[in-house]
Amino acid sequence: MGSPVVLGIESSCDETGAGLVREGRLLGHVVASSMDEHARYGGVVPEIAARAHVHALTPVVRRALDEAGLRMSDVGAVAVTTGPGLSGALQVGLAGAKSLAYALDVPLYGVHHLAGHVAADTLEHGPLPDPCMVLVVSGGHTSLLLVRDLARDPIVHLSDTLDDAAGECFDKVARVFGLPYPGGPAIDRAARDGDPAAVPFPRPLTAPRDAAHTHSFPSSFSSSFSFSGLKTAAARWAEGHAGRPLPVADGAASLQEAVADVLTRKAVAACREHGVRTLVVVGGVAANSRVRALAEERCRAAGIALRVPPPRLCTDNGAMIAAVGDLLVRAGADPAPLNMSIDPSAPLETASLHPVGAAFGRAA
Ligand code: KG4
Ligand code: ZN
Repeated sequence: MGSPVVLGIESSCDETGAGLVREGRLLGHVVASSMDEHARYGGVVPEIAARAHVHALTPVVRRALDEAGLRMSDVGAVAVTTGPGLSGALQVGLAGAKSLAYALDVPLYGVHHLAGHVAADTLEHGPLPDPCMVLVVSGGHTSLLLVRDLARDPIVHLSDTLDDAAGECFDKVARVFGLPYPGGPAIDRAARDGDPAAVPFPRPLTAPRDAAHTHSFPSSFSSSFSFSGLKTAAARWAEGHAGRPLPVADGAASLQEAVADVLTRKAVAACREHGVRTLVVVGGVAANSRVRALAEERCRAAGIALRVPPPRLCTDNGAMIAAVGDLLVRAGADPAPLNMSIDPSAPLETASLHPVGAAFGRAA
């Protein structure tokens, strides 16, 4: 009989995604975005995002099935993001996923959004080696994770950001530079015409002395990330041009260089420290051209195998959630109860996330 077709649903932020995966193979996926509706506010408006999910969910699922050449009755399991993310947005995806699982009488799985980002890479490059080092860089998270069997083992957090996430830094600085939302892709585009050495932006927490201030690696610098100082430095630099034209391309290229430098330096150091031979870079910021190029260069020099999903699978999508669902199904994981709730501030502990009732009360 083989393993079932898993439908994955993602709705944690401004993308409504549906994907279909079976035995590690991507059969089809479709993403609708409410990005344009948020652009004039300079950031995601939760209520607008939630309403857009209501409108997009059914058509997106239908189009993903069409793309895969499948019918609704071919779906054998449903996986859905239950956190972290925007509460109203998550609720819409979960309600849709529960309805489909109930109507089709198939098992339902709750998935941690960041585990989805990790699993996205398996759709392009096959099963993850055990162990692997994963750098997750998105709009809300910047973490280095030691991943073993994604479906079975707890995920070990080696480091996190003390303040802003890398994507958040791009988004906020882009706004100050007068670039459109979302800021990351806009910075990436603007940087093409700029000089990455034009502005000497700081490289937060990469100096040896920084190790003393945070829970440290055994290595010579802190394992933690911090992007709020870099964001402020970029804002100050822009303010310093008051009345004069801002060389946006140089600012964008220099900011992108600083972020890429910090991320890749720490990721490679973590691989060395833990004797891990494979680095996987995932999440929206993994779509950044300079992050990809510098990771490639530094991994090659260090003899580390690098895996980065194609850009369309780096940003939020339903295929990555289906990929986790497929791994859980094949690992024989317990399905979620139909009274499963969302957990908007869920910490990343395991790939499956089945909060029921009380978990939703946790302080962010
Ligand atoms: O993973 P994702 O789609 O959503 C979250 O889980 O947050 O990541 C979104 C983030 C945003 O901050 C966006 O600006 C950033 O990823 N991003 C990029 C690029 N594409 C998306 N940052 C830099 N360069 C890009 N090309
Ligand atoms: Zn994401």
